[in-house]
Amino acid sequence: MKTLADLGDLRGKRVLVRSDLNVPLDGQTITDDGRIRASLPTITRLTQAGARVVVCAHLGRPKGAPDPQYSLAPVAARLGELLGEDVAFAEDTVGASARSTVEGLEDGQVALLENLRFNPGETSKDEAERGAFADELAGLADAYVSDGFGVVHRAQASVFDIATRLPAAMGGLVQTEVDVLQRLTQDPQRPYAVVLGGAKVSDKLGVIDNLLGTADRILIGGGMVFTFLKAQGHEVGKSLLEEDQLDTVSEYLERAQRDGVDIILPTDIVAATEFSAEADHDVVAADAIPSDRMGLDIGPESARHFADTLADCRTVFWNGPMGAFEMAPYAAGTEAVARALVEATQGGALTVVGGGDSAAAVRQLGFGDSDFGHISTGGGASLEYLEGKDLPGLSVFEDEEG
Ligand code: 3PG
Repeated sequence: MKTLADLGDLRGKRVLVRSDLNVPLDGQTITDDGRIRASLPTITRLTQAGARVVVCAHLGRPKGAPDPQYSLAPVAARLGELLGEDVAFAEDTVGASARSTVEGLEDGQVALLENLRFNPGETSKDEAERGAFADELAGLADAYVSDGFGVVHRAQASVFDIATRLPAAMGGLVQTEVDVLQRLTQDPQRPYAVVLGGAKVSDKLGVIDNLLGTADRILIGGGMVFTFLKAQGHEVGKSLLEEDQLDTVSEYLERAQRDGVDIILPTDIVAATEFSAEADHDVVAADAIPSDRMGLDIGPESARHFADTLADCRTVFWNGPMGAFEMAPYAAGTEAVARALVEATQGGALTVVGGGDSAAAVRQLGFGDSDFGHISTGGGASLEYLEGKDLPGLSVFEDEEG
């Protein structure tokens, strides 16, 4: 796979860098700038090489037209602060503003284009429409660097189509992410545990299916756990439930038992009267959630058991919070898992936190990036990698060489 060094002397060249700057925003305020920070090394390496760096990225899921709430303007400002230099911001993606902004760049300077998804060509399923947008993007640059690991599972214009239109290379962030994920999929050190949480089990089916063949222990929390508890015959009250996945989940439970994979579910749950920090809440047994309550976190006994289960593991991958961690009464389960990973890291295990939500959770709870082996910038991308799926933003580079 081509790396930055393969692009040769970049002094004075316009280099289009696809980063993943899809950060959580509260109005105009960035609540976790981890993805911006992770994009800095490649951008800096390019500016130091004298390139004129044109960063492009998406934010949220606008519908192919400009929508101010998804503007990357706050991200341009934060990127500038972190780089310690001005970042010129283009108010469109490939229009007059983008062209004049790129034109105005001097060697070693950085610009950011407006949200790529303001253009319908970015995410279009129609190859010709995507290709037309990729052509326009390519017209802004002399070379392309793919550094947005969080989007490599998307066959989108700025991720996939563009790579065949310009001299192209993978950035250091994508390389690092792939190196770490390879260590999880190719002969991981055992015991190998995977902790899965988050709201929807339907987002995780592929990965569970695949992990049943590779992991030794799968620990499950978050909103998705209630579909497992229900599949075991327990009532889950008002908790999140995906009825249509019950059969699949039952099949996973049977397969795990047959193949000797431990699926570990919570034995107690923090259950509240409603989805609110102020709601009445109690710890209840996981098999006795009252009909008028919803589970919003794993309980303390489960948190201890999860931590014990991770203590002797040599490899741990974690995706998805254990509860509604944004609200203090429901953060303890996620915090306990984070702490268990930190301890496993200190004991020499390879620990990987995958995903926007989990990464934001550990930072919000006060943990640092260096507390873990690796915090991935990719949520969906790292899960699809573990599923063994083809990731278009990676395979386009293999095809290039193949
Ligand atoms: C993410 O947040 O996982 C990536 O930025 C991809 O975003 P998407 O799921 O909207 O394509």
